[in-house]
Amino acid sequence: MDKRFYITTPIYYVNDVPHIGHAYTTLACDALARYKRSRGFDVFFLTGTDEHGQKVEKAAQSKGETPLELADRVMKRFQALWEKLDISHTDFIRTSQERHIKGVQQLFRIIQAKGDIYLGEYEDWYCTPCETFWTETQLMDGCCPDCGRPTDKLKEESYFFRMSKYQEELIRHIEENPEFIQPRSRRNEILNFVREGLRDLSISRTSFSWGIPVPGDEKHVIYVWFDALTNYITALGYPEDPEGQFKTYWPADAHVIGKDILRFHTVYWPTFLLAAGIPLPKKVFAHGWWTVEGQKMSKSLQNVVEPNMLIDKYGADAIRYFLLREVPFGLDGDFSHSALIHRINSDLANDLGNLVSRSTAMVHKYFDGNLPAPGEDEDIDRRFIDRFPAAVRTVDVQMNELAFNKALQTIWELISAANKYIDETAPWALAKDEERRERLGTVMYNLIEAVRLIALLIAPFMPETAARTMATLGGDPEALALEGNDGWGDLHPGTAIAKAAPLFPRIEAE
Ligand code: MSP
Repeated sequence: MDKRFYITTPIYYVNDVPHIGHAYTTLACDALARYKRSRGFDVFFLTGTDEHGQKVEKAAQSKGETPLELADRVMKRFQALWEKLDISHTDFIRTSQERHIKGVQQLFRIIQAKGDIYLGEYEDWYCTPCETFWTETQLMDGCCPDCGRPTDKLKEESYFFRMSKYQEELIRHIEENPEFIQPRSRRNEILNFVREGLRDLSISRTSFSWGIPVPGDEKHVIYVWFDALTNYITALGYPEDPEGQFKTYWPADAHVIGKDILRFHTVYWPTFLLAAGIPLPKKVFAHGWWTVEGQKMSKSLQNVVEPNMLIDKYGADAIRYFLLREVPFGLDGDFSHSALIHRINSDLANDLGNLVSRSTAMVHKYFDGNLPAPGEDEDIDRRFIDRFPAAVRTVDVQMNELAFNKALQTIWELISAANKYIDETAPWALAKDEERRERLGTVMYNLIEAVRLIALLIAPFMPETAARTMATLGGDPEALALEGNDGWGDLHPGTAIAKAAPLFPRIEAE
């Protein structure tokens, strides 16, 4: 089996500061990257910033900065947020970096040498906020059909990419690879779009200068999406590949993106790659969009959810859990404070937190903190124990489908089962009867072993909580791998169990 895994986030525009929507894409990738590592995969997890284009140039101008000054400043905010959110990326690429610029120009040259880039003239409607050209018929009342803002008519000399030439090959690829575009509904949307016909794509601009020059014709800069999409290979060292990373990790296993940028990733990007003779990514997964308290998140509504404040208030793990648990990955969702507080109180403080504190407290109370050896299992124990290997397999399938909310549901079923196991075995009653001491030991062992497996399963979602729980169980907080440790009964009797501090304090509604 090929145990390498390459996963990417979109690279974020630096004309906006990070908000909960950006955090969402990155978090999903992080959970999957951590899960795959925990399964023994050699994971390359890429994120970064998209720094070129007219939008950034204009934003910098309005702030009296150079585009690079703006990018330097905002890029740091993204990096700081990822650190605070415990994001475990392998690399952070900036499109202003030399390694990227060289790679983009090289890709351009290769496609040009093949005869798939030609000089022509461009006249169309351009939406600057979306960096997208629209034809007359695509406009809605003269405005951008995506964001509804006004568009400008642009006529300029431009290099074109023969995208039309790859229409049939792309259709065939999408049809033959049902995994390529996910979720399924998105795949149909793209297939319909491509079947309607692909036009050649304008891939250079002369109307501004903040971008990568077209090799050999410096008055043109390369179109931001050609530039940005190429980050997925330049970060690996394409084309020279000095460290062999491109050879090792490409094609990507998953490009995770929001639904708004699906077409760029499933039409433009694959046709560029087809033209250059580079294999296509295995999967592009488009997630839905978050609204806030029922409304679209926007600067003008002043309802942009700033993740830093939330993390300071509730902790990174609670936010990580909430975003991935609340909404099925692929669908739109609504962020509300009441839903967040409800999840923290009920799922984290109550279900998970209580399980860990009750179980460890009982080992202290009844066995002085030393994990007893289990005796004979009874039916009720076997039913409980058998759930674990089954859930571990289910979680594996769900994670590979990027069904994060389902995986969390599966794990929470174990947590509920464990809480129920306590209620049904009633250790406090067993403790009153000296003759039932072995039975009490069995129940305690099974409970703590369950907590250990639950800690490993939640680790990709809540790394800090998992590490703390592992430390409480006398384990190594760094050793959270599922691979090789996911069997029942790995925990040694006699292990010193610490008293767990509450994992999640209850939040009182304000
Ligand atoms: N720079 C491009 C991507 C280039 S990738 C080669 C871009 N950047 S972005 O900063 O505007 O958006 C980055 C990601 O954030 C997108 O996947 C987008 O879907 C996501 N989100 C932005 N707002 C969002 C919500 N309100 N909800 C969920 N995700 C959202 O596009």
